[in-house]
Amino acid sequence: MSDVNSPSFWEESYRQGHTGWDLGMPTPVFQRLAESGKFTPGKMLVVCAGRGYDARLFARLGFEVTAVDFAEEAVKEMQALDDPQVKMEVMQADLFDLPVFMEEEFDYILEYTCFCAIDPQRRAEYIQGVSSLLKPGGFYIALAFPIGGRTGGPPFVVSPDELISPLNERGFELVLREVPDDSVPGREGIEELIILKKKPN
Ligand SMILES: C[S@@+](CC[C@H](N)C(=O)[O-])C[C@H]1O[C@@H](n2cnc3c(N)ncnc32)[C@H](O)[C@@H]1O
Repeated sequence: MSDVNSPSFWEESYRQGHTGWDLGMPTPVFQRLAESGKFTPGKMLVVCAGRGYDARLFARLGFEVTAVDFAEEAVKEMQALDDPQVKMEVMQADLFDLPVFMEEEFDYILEYTCFCAIDPQRRAEYIQGVSSLLKPGGFYIALAFPIGGRTGGPPFVVSPDELISPLNERGFELVLREVPDDSVPGREGIEELIILKKKPN
């Protein structure tokens, strides 16, 4: 297996233009969600932000966004695409090494194609991270992809229950689970939007 734990693996993909995951625009499912007005702007952490389209979408709507990616190329491109009108913090960091001061810092954590990109052996660590970074009462918003039907990776296959069950055990409540009808072509039926709320204090 290639070492997905290493930023250099991802940097090489960016350098070679092998970024098949990149939509070149905000994810339509998140666009709908962001514009629904159901979520009041607050502090949002976007993990594995890539070129930052989704992060920028929420920042534009007034969310205080921190976009994290550990690949230098991704971060450079995210900064290059930055809209000067939109305030957003871009951070080059490994999501498994985020500083302690960020604990319980965020009202939202947003993710797309992150859980499927990390080493599957580190999924429990990811859940622990999500749980500690969110404020009590905060929301975890994920578009779980790709569901079923493949071996190897990245992307490594994802089952929404792998996110929901361990978060439930940590006191998170599932507030939404849907198979979106606005997935991009090729991803229809193999992704699910899930939203969980961390137990308020
Ligand atoms: C499949 S890409 C998805 C990028 C973006 N979410 C998108 O949908 O366009 C995965 C991204 O996660 C980043 N990444 C992988 N493991 C990471 C880690 N441990 N910490 C921070 N970023 C990571 C990679 O550098 C890459 O940009």
